[in-house]
Amino acid sequence: MIHFDEKERLFRIDAKDVSYVFFAAANGRLRHLYWGPQLDTMDLRNLGIADYTCSPNFNPDDNEAGRGAYSWEFAGNDIGTRGVPTAIVRNADGNTTTDPRYVSHRIYAGKPRLEGLPATFVDSPEECETLEITMLDEATKVEFLLRYTAFRDLPIIARSVVVTNKGDAPVELQKIMSLTTDFRHQEFDVIYFDGYWGKERTYHRERVQGGLKIMGADSGYTSHRMNSSVILCDPTTTEEFGRAYGVLFVYSGKFAVEVDQCCMYRTRLNLGIHPMGFTWHLEPGESFQSPEALQAFSNEGLGALSRSWHDLIRQHIINPRWRTAPRPILCNNWEAMHFNFSREKLVTLAKTAKAHGIEMLVLDDGWFGKRDNDQTGLGDWYTNTTKVGCTMGELADEIRSLGLKFGLWFEPEMVSEDSDLYRAHPDWAIQVPNRSSKTFWRYQYMLDFSRKEVVDYVYEMIIKVIDEAKLDYMKWDANREMTEVGSYGWPAERQGEIAHRFMLGVYDLYQRLVNRYPNMLIEGCSSGGGRFDAGILYYSPQIWTSDNSDAFNRLAIQYGTSFAYPCSSMGAHVARNWFAERYSPVETRAAVAFSGTFGYELDLNQMPPEELAQVDGQVEFYHKYHHLVEQGDYYRLANPFKDETVSWMHVAKDKSEFLLTVVFTRWDASYSGENILLRGLDLDAKYTDGTKTWTGRVLTYAGISVKPSRFGDMLSIVIHGTRV
Ligand code: DGJ
Repeated sequence: MIHFDEKERLFRIDAKDVSYVFFAAANGRLRHLYWGPQLDTMDLRNLGIADYTCSPNFNPDDNEAGRGAYSWEFAGNDIGTRGVPTAIVRNADGNTTTDPRYVSHRIYAGKPRLEGLPATFVDSPEECETLEITMLDEATKVEFLLRYTAFRDLPIIARSVVVTNKGDAPVELQKIMSLTTDFRHQEFDVIYFDGYWGKERTYHRERVQGGLKIMGADSGYTSHRMNSSVILCDPTTTEEFGRAYGVLFVYSGKFAVEVDQCCMYRTRLNLGIHPMGFTWHLEPGESFQSPEALQAFSNEGLGALSRSWHDLIRQHIINPRWRTAPRPILCNNWEAMHFNFSREKLVTLAKTAKAHGIEMLVLDDGWFGKRDNDQTGLGDWYTNTTKVGCTMGELADEIRSLGLKFGLWFEPEMVSEDSDLYRAHPDWAIQVPNRSSKTFWRYQYMLDFSRKEVVDYVYEMIIKVIDEAKLDYMKWDANREMTEVGSYGWPAERQGEIAHRFMLGVYDLYQRLVNRYPNMLIEGCSSGGGRFDAGILYYSPQIWTSDNSDAFNRLAIQYGTSFAYPCSSMGAHVARNWFAERYSPVETRAAVAFSGTFGYELDLNQMPPEELAQVDGQVEFYHKYHHLVEQGDYYRLANPFKDETVSWMHVAKDKSEFLLTVVFTRWDASYSGENILLRGLDLDAKYTDGTKTWTGRVLTYAGISVKPSRFGDMLSIVIHGTRV
């Protein structure tokens, strides 16, 4: 899969259907050549591709004035490369010139795990091949080890960089992107997903303009504000046609995607840790491992790109324990009770849940320490037996005796000012030493997880509860951003490391819990879906997508999320109608939630009886068809940001079944239905929904006729078809 042409020092990395090509120039600098549909030659330099430059003073040795127009594979700093650099190292002399050159490389089957970081993995070494390139900046003796792993069955390449100080004086790493690639003379659209609480991963598409655009988050975590998946595509690319280049970060801390276009339509794409506020001190012999960045290519539009990401996440990121295991249908008490619950209320809810086929009760926030509102108690992870009415072990036993699994909410990284933990260890909060102010956010601080003793302490508290209650599930929440980033645990020259070290601490705690409780399902959460990324998915196969469960808003949120993340990773629950002014029938709320991990987020006992009566049918439907959502291919058929009829499909990998969901968001007096063109089917097969039979060709090219069965907004239809 990875080819090397010794004469040209040219590398061609072939993943499924895709080639990625670059070479080491005569002076050792790495220059990019190509990323796109798979090629059948190594002869690119003779084809003139490498030698294009806008400069009349072009020098093929990559030395002089033309350099600014070259395409770079690794852009050093302050050496005349156009655009934002890949890396900046401040060396012992105080300057930041960074100029690594090729030294050697090796190619091997398989892929190493990244120490302390989430990363893609394979079940067997035959599934991928890895190229490691060693580069050295002679003047500073800083080494860069570039890793590229190509997946045999997916058009995806994983990349990361290890920076090592091989010199004899300390240096400071000021920027290290995990991925740089350059595009030549292409006009691009960029697709990104920004948002806010309740409005996560809002889809945006716009033309790339000249200059630098940074899409990122500098607040210590992935954030609601921007997601770490970004797509560049041709302006003509659609769901089904055209080139699309996606990147995705396997990381949950602050990140930046830099898109930098020059007047010659050269576009650089960088992805890595956000350089703002980041520094890493490297003593002689010390190394820094960057998080892993992924790049995917599709020649068949955005839909195929998404399906590649979905397969990658399901096969190579989430814990194999949860790859095919159906997730329990849960009922979470948060929206039913908030902090105002009792043992009796919980047991009553559990009984109703069980009576209707729901499989797990989750007790959300408020069961620990002194926690009757969001102002106190975080960090005191011991059961408030007065409030719960018994020990957690007793409550869990009672819920289990009803035939349900049991889960609990935690917010491990946080501490309330009004808590025993904070009173005992005020220096354990993230803060800038000797600065009196620190920003309060939901009345809480972040714990300094850059310090191992803090992670150890929280771990010990949490496992006591998990052991006692024998939890089946844990909801791991995180409800604030990182501000005043600093630590009492590290010296001045390492204060720029705290945000990343914090994230290493989070991953450490996650990994310890996964190791100790291999069968406990962990669901990620962050004020809804504020930390929805491929890093968290490595530990938590599902993440609460948003606190906003309004079915109409969820159409947009789940649409945006689906560009990179599979439906099997999206926590989605049937909730009450949030707004009296916008009523969605319960069957539509269920149809929308059904394209996620499915559950209930409301007081079942308060549901109108005619709605509660439908729960049994929804549970039955889940058991019959949810494998299509978990394992199948996902097709977006409409865009909720512009279409009033929103539809999507899940199709079995072998094309033997499909599930079509259509939501008619607004009633329209003159609407007489429409034909929806289906995707992903076997053209030559026949399909039936039990009453009608169509050929795959008819469903694909002529479409299926749908219209709502009555008047009203937010009506929906779900059609299950099987191959005859
Ligand atoms: C934010 C989460 O998104 C909610 O689901 C809930 O767990 C609350 N936190 C509890 O404080």
